[in-house]
Amino acid sequence: MTEPPRTLTGRTRLAGVLGWPVAHSRSPRLHGYWLWKHGIDGAYLPLPVRAQDFDRAVRAVAALCFAGANVTVPHKAAALALADEADSFARRVGAANTLVFGPDGRIVARNTDGYGFIESLRQQAPGWHAAAGPAVVLGAGGASRAILAALSDAGVPTLRLANRTRGRAEAVAHELGGVEVVAWEERMAALEDASLLVNATSLGLEGKVPLDIDIARLPSRATVCDIVYVPLETPLLAAARACGLAAVDGLGMLLHQARPGFASWFGGDPVVDDELRSFVAADLMAAR
Ligand code: ATR
Repeated sequence: MTEPPRTLTGRTRLAGVLGWPVAHSRSPRLHGYWLWKHGIDGAYLPLPVRAQDFDRAVRAVAALCFAGANVTVPHKAAALALADEADSFARRVGAANTLVFGPDGRIVARNTDGYGFIESLRQQAPGWHAAAGPAVVLGAGGASRAILAALSDAGVPTLRLANRTRGRAEAVAHELGGVEVVAWEERMAALEDASLLVNATSLGLEGKVPLDIDIARLPSRATVCDIVYVPLETPLLAAARACGLAAVDGLGMLLHQARPGFASWFGGDPVVDDELRSFVAADLMAAR
């Protein structure tokens, strides 16, 4: 007889991702893989929720004894605001991507995006060291904030931030502290002594124009990261590899940010390995 189908039971632990829209989210596939891999009686659901319904929806899933949830666009700031407790990283970044519902009904908010970024960087570019030199981050949205805070915590000596709309970069620098704002037009010059370049803009995303930057201005031991993961190999990463630089794709950050949530809700220590990467990457390719 073939293996019986996997079914839910009366004891299935539940979690999910709250977002609007949420159909594009890879989190159900990713958590579903770990649940299967670890043989856990759990389920992770897509939970489409409009902005005006977010608070009610969180309280509803908490009342249904969900173990917790991930939170994605556009709810990350609202998730932090409604929580009873939040970790210091989420407070600094002003957003949460992970909620854990305690048995006492308390809602705890965490932000694991910075953790995911650093873990992915360490896994894909093991030669990178925080103390090696300045980091240049392009873009001033939510992802950029988490990345800058994480790089600062990791001990990067100089953080440079360039964004097309300078005012947004100044606001981020003001809130986080310890970040130098560089004019968007000066981004190439900022690379000269940098050990890390991070694209945290949406440039390079499929259907968008590529990021205009001259990778050859980076020192030969620099690392280049992209948060864009559709396509997995962005023009920026292809250019970095062609110059012999270490390149870190955006899929790693997505996979690693999910680990703390999974461990809190379902237990275990989920790992990001080639099998998981291929499983999620196959879904990204299929959607194109
Ligand atoms: P998120 O919060 O997920 O990071 P976002 O707020 O939409 O997303 O941020 C997208 C980033 O890409 C922004 O830094 C944006 O720059 P602006 O603040 O000037 O809008 C950047 N971006 C998008 N299109 C761009 C373009 N054509 N040239 C330069 N930067 C661009």
